[in-house]
Formats: sequence, structure tokens, C-alpha cells
Amino acid sequence: MNPANNPTAQAVDNVLIYIFGFSAILLLGITVVTIYFVIKYRRSKHPEPTSQVHSNFLLETLWTLLPTLIVLTMFWYGWVNYVGLREIPPNALEIKATARMWSWQFEYPDGRRESKLYVPVNKPIKVDLYSVDVLHNFFIPAFRIKRDTVPGMENYVWFQATEPGSYDIFCAEYCGVGHADMITTVEALTEEDYAEWSKPLEPTGDPRGLVVLNEQGCIGCHSIDGSDGIAPSLFELAGQPRTLDKDGQTIEITIDEEYLIRAIREPEVEIVKGYDSMMPAYDETTISNEDVQAVVDYLLGKAIAATPGLDANQLLEENGCLGCHSSDGSESIAPTFKGIGNREVTIERDGEEITIKVDADYLRRALLNPNDELVKGFAPMMPAADYLSEEEVDAIIDHLLQQ
Ligand code: CUA
Repeated sequence: MNPANNPTAQAVDNVLIYIFGFSAILLLGITVVTIYFVIKYRRSKHPEPTSQVHSNFLLETLWTLLPTLIVLTMFWYGWVNYVGLREIPPNALEIKATARMWSWQFEYPDGRRESKLYVPVNKPIKVDLYSVDVLHNFFIPAFRIKRDTVPGMENYVWFQATEPGSYDIFCAEYCGVGHADMITTVEALTEEDYAEWSKPLEPTGDPRGLVVLNEQGCIGCHSIDGSDGIAPSLFELAGQPRTLDKDGQTIEITIDEEYLIRAIREPEVEIVKGYDSMMPAYDETTISNEDVQAVVDYLLGKAIAATPGLDANQLLEENGCLGCHSSDGSESIAPTFKGIGNREVTIERDGEEITIKVDADYLRRALLNPNDELVKGFAPMMPAADYLSEEEVDAIIDHLLQQ
């Protein structure tokens, strides 16, 4: 056991020791007295009882009251410490943890994303827990914290590392074949190391339009990858036909700049057929004209993908791909990335086995619909990487083809 001098571990350990200590003392006491009575009052020595005892008010009161009091102190002590685990200390650093099959991702207040949880020592850390697919469980034994991540629900834990070091994070809720690989670490750094680590704040490289879409929370309702949501997807809009409801009449339009600006500024006027009118209007106080133009340019594909900083290797690392796919050719639960660009694979498609050469199209399908074409010998267990942006998918494909 590592020195558990951090506050959450202490809270849990103190209660454990208290309850376990009382239980051990009582078990020992009762056992000793039982054995003593069995021997002292054995039948061969006392064939007949010498007296009949009917009741003893003092004794009965004591053995009712004492255990009740002991159990109540256990409850009180446990409760006080549990409340301490749920109350976030002021000045906590808030980090968002997202669980998906089968990796963890940590997002910092400045938007930085990591697959390991880097924290400074001696600072309370609040971890907001989310799941994008199924139940997982965020478990750090060294800090004695363990909490479910539930799709559609927010959850949280807090902890504070008191010593620099690396502490295991496990998933503690069976979530499918990759469950046992859902492992990462807390990297607790000294204050100086942490300051150094968090310094290089590179610009994200995202086009302004996408930044605005994210900042305004548009992505919460409108997908940008073509998937269905409570609002129309923003994927590949340019030149697409749209059927709209306007003043009770159905009209057909082609998506263009003017339409998109109206849809942002006055969304209640023209409603896309099949959807409810629920989007709030975004006026100039919320989004400036320049930002609206940036969004529209982005949606119409005019924005130059200003993403030279996209590091495919880092994407693979951040998104947990390397947990299943090795990059050094070693055997794993998924095909290795080594040499994948020059490889022929035998895949099963619609029940038939075919051998194909790996190319960009195949890799795109393998990323976005991984279980439609299974590489022979591997099980269908990869989740679709539809959480990646178009640019990220392209960067990964380019990278893999050079492997
Ligand atoms: Cu995630 Cu088990």
C-alpha cells in the first residue's frame, strides 16, 4: 500500500480502521468469553443447573444501549467522512473526464486534451465524470475514490495528491471486451513541473467557425459529422436542398450563405421539415457579425482547414487507440498499426471473405464503421471513431498510410 496521506484516502481509511477495529475487538471478546463459558460450565461438571436466572434489568439495558451507541458512532463517523468526499474544497482545479469504450480522456479548462490525468500536488482536483456510451467506473485505488460514469448524467469525484508520482486509474465497471485495458494514470507533478507542463498553450488550430460552434454549444444539438440529433446535422451543407416550413407553407430552398445567416439570426422563421422550433435566436450581442460569417464560411466549406498542428500520433494516443492497436508490430487484441499502409488484409464483408489492399478509403471505413468489415481473426469490439472531426480523421489516415 502506498503511503495514504492524501485527504480522501485518509477519510476512507479512518472509517475502515474504526469499524474494523471495533468489529475485531468484539469478535475477539465474544469468542474468548464463549470458549471460557463452554469450558467452565460444561455438562460433566454441572449436570444440573444450580439456579435459574430470569432477567437482569441492568445487563439487558447495557447490552441494548452499548451496541446501539457503537453502531451509531460508526454511522456518524462514516457519514461525516462521506460528506467530506462529496464536498469539493474551494479552489479545486476542475478537469473533465470522458469515458468511452475503452479509454479515458481528460480535458483541461483551457481545452487541452490528454489521455493521462496530469495534476499538481497539494491542490484539490475535481474530476467531472462523463460517459459517451455505456457505464464505466472511475477508480483510483491510491486515493480511495471510485465512481460510476453514466451516459447522460454528470458525476464527479475529487482528490488531492500530496506526493508526486504515478497512480493507477482503472475502469471498475465491466464495459465489454476492452474493459481490462481501460487503464491510465494520474501523473502528480510538483507545482513547478506542473507549471512547466501546462505552459505551452498552442493555439488549437481550429478554424474560427468551428471554435464559435463549440463555444456557443451549437454542437450539442447539431452534429458536424452527419449523425442524427435533435437538430439538423451541419455536415456538408453547401448546395444541399432543404425543405422548410415558413408561415405555414412548405418551401424548397438550396442551402447558401443567406439562408444560413437567417437560420442563425432568426431560426424561428423557417423551420426545417421534421424538426421542432426550439433553437434560440442568436443576435449580435451573442455572436458578432464576423463570427457568424466565420461559422457560415466554415459550414459551407470555405474555411481553409487551418490545422497544421494536428499531430496524428498524438490523436491516436489521446483517443486511446494505442491501447488496442500496437504501433511496434506486437500482437494485441487489434491489428497493429505497423506497416498498415502497405498491407493486404483479409476482411469479412456481408458474410464473405475478401482480401483487399489497405488504402485511404478502407481506413476511413475502418475508423467510422469498424464492425462492417472485420479483419479476419479479430473480434468486433472497436467503437466507431465518429467523435473525431473530419480533419482529425484525415490526419490519422495520412499518418497510418505512411506506417
Ligand atoms: Cu470501461 Cu470497464
